[in-house]
Amino acid sequence: DVGKATNIKFHDGMVPRETKEQLLGQKGVVLWFTGLSGSGKSTVACTLEHALAARGRMTVLLDGDNIRHGLNKNLGFSAQDREENIRRIGEVAKLFAESGVITLTSFISPYRKDRDGVRARLAPGDFLECYMRIPIELCEQRDPKGLYRAARAGKIKNFTGIDDPYEEPTAPELVVDARDAAGNMQSAEDMAAQIMQYLEERGYLG
Ligand code: PPS
Repeated sequence: DVGKATNIKFHDGMVPRETKEQLLGQKGVVLWFTGLSGSGKSTVACTLEHALAARGRMTVLLDGDNIRHGLNKNLGFSAQDREENIRRIGEVAKLFAESGVITLTSFISPYRKDRDGVRARLAPGDFLECYMRIPIELCEQRDPKGLYRAARAGKIKNFTGIDDPYEEPTAPELVVDARDAAGNMQSAEDMAAQIMQYLEERGYLG
């Protein structure tokens, strides 16, 4: 499906993914963080990106700073705009991953069908959904940007978890809990290490 464009022909003879992966010495993948605002998506993605760089891995981190201010600056937070936000991010992530880059994305991505839509655009094993699981009460307590307070006061409408839905993943590859088994808060380093271990064990780091 090429949408509205007609007479589009794809080139043969592009440099294949395998060649690019050999050049980079790694395998491309999309690591898709999802979770409530304040769940730690961006912090953990950022910590993980540093850890991967320290191990000589080429990454790209897509998050609100480079996407909602740039590519998607015409989009808001209606269900339709969130859908288009996630669709575009998915396509960009696909381009990077298929060029051998370890691609980290950090967006609430509240709708299951939108996340599944991205998954369906990628080959099996190329999309790893990482659910940042946290009780909303904890996010509200933290509230680093004061957004939950503003949402409770009705100053922000359609705020995820308050008056807009968050649909939990049903079969994510990874679940990262805010608290460990003993009930203690996990640090960003602990969480990043957990994800790193998953990548290692499943052969994503070669
Ligand atoms: S989505 O749902 O995936 O399209 O959202 P995303 O692109 O990740 O943007 C979420 C950040 O935007 C801020 N923000 C809101 N979040 C949720 N609901 C509403 N209505 C809203 N308005 C602004 C908020 O700071 C989110 O940042 P994070 O980093 O998740 O806290």
